Amino acid sequence: MRMARTQEALYAELDVELSWSERELPERERTKHVHRLHPYLGKFIPQLVEELFRRHLPARGRVLDPFAGSGTTLVQALESGLDSTGIDLAAFNCLLMEVKTRRYNLFTLEHDVREALARFEAGEGTAAAPSPYLADWFAPQAIDDLLRFRSLLGEYEHADVLRLVLARAARSARRTTHFDLDFPAVPQLEPYWCFKHRRECRPVERAAQFVRRYSLDTLARLKQFAHVRTAREATVLHGDARELEVEGRFDGVITSPPYPGLIDYHEQHRYAYELLGLDDLRERELGAAAAGTSRQAIEAYVDGIANVFERAAATLARRRPFVVVVNDRRDLYPEILARSGLSLERRYRRHVNRRTGRRAGEYFEDVLVAVRA
Ligand SMILES: C[S@@+](CC[C@H](N)C(=O)[O-])C[C@H]1O[C@@H](n2cnc3c(N)ncnc32)[C@H](O)[C@@H]1O
Repeated sequence: MRMARTQEALYAELDVELSWSERELPERERTKHVHRLHPYLGKFIPQLVEELFRRHLPARGRVLDPFAGSGTTLVQALESGLDSTGIDLAAFNCLLMEVKTRRYNLFTLEHDVREALARFEAGEGTAAAPSPYLADWFAPQAIDDLLRFRSLLGEYEHADVLRLVLARAARSARRTTHFDLDFPAVPQLEPYWCFKHRRECRPVERAAQFVRRYSLDTLARLKQFAHVRTAREATVLHGDARELEVEGRFDGVITSPPYPGLIDYHEQHRYAYELLGLDDLRERELGAAAAGTSRQAIEAYVDGIANVFERAAATLARRRPFVVVVNDRRDLYPEILARSGLSLERRYRRHVNRRTGRRAGEYFEDVLVAVRA
């Protein structure tokens, strides 16, 4: 049932079409092809983006996502036949988006990945001395594997794909418990009782098995995507969305902004920044968990998001939709929209089917559809 169009629009009815159950939309579908190239906490599901394109974007249109994250909007735009531009502050997210959306010569891609893996498994490469962070978070053999693989990558045309494989292998090889992979606080050095597997588990000691598994998985997923994507353009812009200049006109904005005090987007991929030597711009993250939720932090957040929205809205042709997916439990978005010169036209509420286990529970999010006032 969709909500009737109304200007007050602060009350939203549940949109059943957007509230998939686990059976209707199993994890395999939500993480199809390149959507599972690397874990990323805080992404929206591809099928939601697909449906929002269908409802709000013209065929062969152009869409902008100023908080593009892991690139869900860009990947789905390629699948749906739209051009897209995505901005993100976090260098690792931009690498992830680039690898997902680039057009590959599948022959050279396969050659690069298989050759790098074969050389690694034959013992080639040399491991540099690990930084203090890497020495703390990885067992000696694991970091030796990772640094040796890293030493082989530079010479390949598809080095970025291999760098992503390296990051994913590093994530799995950290000294963490199996149930706390997102934000582990301290390295886990001893065997522990594992809530996920209901038995005693041990921290990982080697990384070579992950390098193999993710090299092959990445290759398979990039090939799958190559067969379903269109030839439209996806552009990735790295930087602060409050400052970047975006060229041209768009037919719609679709975005899910960071929410205050929830996630540190750089910190969740800290191992990748350390291993790949990426630029760390965390002090510019909007709504970073590290900044807390004091009144001052919330005001800075509202200012920052309104600034980004105003700039993004300025790229839209008249009456084109500005679509925001958010769980606005602090009720900040009416003010943010007003300050960005946007007026709310419609609001869908969707029931998010939370995973089982430690993240179980009822959870709703809203889809706000606005236009320039
Ligand atoms: C909720 S996530 C977006 C997730 C995305 N919808 C997806 O499916 O992957 C918000 C993103 O905003 C980015 N971000 C935070 N502050 C930013 C800023 N000042 N400029 C650009 N991006 C920023 C974060 O790095 C994060 O990737």
